[in-house]
Amino acid sequence: MSGRILTVAQQKGGSGKTTLSAHLAVALARKSGEPVAILDVDPQGSLGTWFEAREETLGEDATGLSFRTASGWGARREARSLAKSHGFVVIDTPPKTDTDARPAIEVADYVFVPIQPTPVDVWATEQTIELAAREKTPALLVLNRVPSRASLTHEMEEAIRSSGYQALTSRLGNRTGFAASMGQGITVMEQAPSSKAAEEMSLLIDEILGHIE
Ligand SMILES: Nc1ncnc2c1ncn2[C@@H]1O[C@H](COP(=O)(O)OP(=O)(O)OP(=O)(O)O)[C@@H](O)[C@H]1O
Ligand SMILES: [Mg+2]
Repeated sequence: MSGRILTVAQQKGGSGKTTLSAHLAVALARKSGEPVAILDVDPQGSLGTWFEAREETLGEDATGLSFRTASGWGARREARSLAKSHGFVVIDTPPKTDTDARPAIEVADYVFVPIQPTPVDVWATEQTIELAAREKTPALLVLNRVPSRASLTHEMEEAIRSSGYQALTSRLGNRTGFAASMGQGITVMEQAPSSKAAEEMSLLIDEILGHIE
């Protein structure tokens, strides 16, 4: 087996990398039925904390995921090793793309770049997108915490259009469910399966699987 390596990266802090990584991993496991691993290369260890909470909430044998950590160049080796026994490897990275995130971007089959809907956030993605481009790895923006106000969305669409970056059509709203579920080591799909947040995530995963396949 050679699983797909999906790296979630964005130089800007607090853009939603860890939230997206956890949700991607759980949703991929549920939709594909294949084993999924998560790899935390962020020294902050937020995804690891989430996974520990998950073990507590669901039980150690019921997380549905494998979890590893790695730092620096060890991330490439660990990701490749995990890809031999998992259908998908999801890597969460720290906000500094030039150090720890770089090997994770280099080893990736796809890079997903969560951005909050401000033009400044679009500009902040340049370094991440360029690193991926150098490796000829497709990088896709994921608009996160999108408010329903149409004017801002329009402004953002302009900013994305002029940046030339590729963005997924599916977007995630600014929804408290994401934070609330993460605190318990689970996801919106598990905590509130019929919520708007879960529906958005499901559409996002379908779109991502469409790109991968
Ligand atoms: N769609 C969303 N709706 C509401 N809150 C969100 C959403 N996405 C993320 N958040 C919240 O935003 C904060 C930052 O998210 P997260 O930790 O995932 O970002 P990050 O990019 O991993 O941050 P860092 O750069 O520090 O690693 C968290 O409190 C999280 O709960
Ligand atoms: Mg994080």
